Amino acid sequence: MTRVLLLIALLAWLPGCGGNSAPSASGTPAGLLTNGADPILEIKSPSGSRTVALSQLIREVPVKRVTVNDPLYGRDKTYDGFSLEDLASYSQNLRAESVIFHCRDGFSLRMPFVAARKAGLVLTFHDLEMSEGFPSSLDNPIFVERRNKAAAYLQAHHLEYEQAKHGRTPAQKRIVQEYETARGERDRWARRVDELNRLGNIGPFHPVLLRALAVKDLVDWDAPDAVRAIEFEHVVPSGGRDYPAGAAADSPVMTGYKLFHAKCLYCHAMNGGGGRSGPELNIPVNVTEYLKEEYVIAFILNARAVRARSMMSVQPEITRQDAERIVDYLKYMKNNKRVY
Ligand code: HEC
Repeated sequence: MTRVLLLIALLAWLPGCGGNSAPSASGTPAGLLTNGADPILEIKSPSGSRTVALSQLIREVPVKRVTVNDPLYGRDKTYDGFSLEDLASYSQNLRAESVIFHCRDGFSLRMPFVAARKAGLVLTFHDLEMSEGFPSSLDNPIFVERRNKAAAYLQAHHLEYEQAKHGRTPAQKRIVQEYETARGERDRWARRVDELNRLGNIGPFHPVLLRALAVKDLVDWDAPDAVRAIEFEHVVPSGGRDYPAGAAADSPVMTGYKLFHAKCLYCHAMNGGGGRSGPELNIPVNVTEYLKEEYVIAFILNARAVRARSMMSVQPEITRQDAERIVDYLKYMKNNKRVY
């Protein structure tokens, strides 16, 4: 019912449907699409990958008009887009475990599906300040200002910093700390400006959060730019090579398995299946058989605390408790070795 109402509301404002302007040759309403083109969204899931043109999505998924305070601009912006929930329902992925955004520049970002849903993620395709698509993102003013402000701070405090660098008093330590924070800020915003300049604009799809405050980890969320594909991941209920056969549904082992499946398997293999950038962790020798448990936990939390120059990135959203559950799972798997 709501879907019908939304479609009617949509038809009411679409140019070309109100009788004022003619639809373009493809039957796509004019004025909505980047440079008159019809961008494609790729939707991936374990059952396969499909590409859908924006014009088709507009016909088949409710379009939401949203106003959000967009961190990219530091002010309220109004967009048209699709809620993640509607996209998941459209592609039969409502039970997904996580969602991965793939961007035009090859960057990708994974987030838990529940969190994205709770935060009201909307994948927008049109900034209403434009006749179509998104404005140029060259020299994003907000990020340029932050970069320049930090750079000016560095310049103004350089001498002070050089003098305090080897000092031990609390005042000197504070000067050093503030200087280093500013340096981190300058690099961070310089990188963001460069990224956006390289992309040219944030289309074809730009995710925003309607309720960022609802999810603690997302309060400072920096949206992935220029999304071209979304991927839904599901926990394989059973049968996957990493599945802990025989473990009870509410056991710590099963909790650890879900974490491992969502956050580790895309780099690591288990019983010969999984990602290739990290090592196999079970066959022929399980990692808990040659590394002490406390070191496995430490490794998961911060690999370089155990092995200098480790290639494994820090997993920021893993807590100590999560790491302990993952170790429960890893230990369980040493008695579930399968060679394929
Ligand atoms: C982005 C890819 C990536 C992710 C994600 C990742 N790892 Fe790793 N991991 C690696 C790489 C690469 C190594 C090789 C270690 C090195 O360079 O020190 C490694 C090493 C390890 C080791 C040490 C193995 C050994 O024999 O020395 C453990 C244990 C481990 N990872 C567990 C995990 C767990 C558990 C997770 C999920 C919470 C995880 N990793 C997530 C890439 C990853």
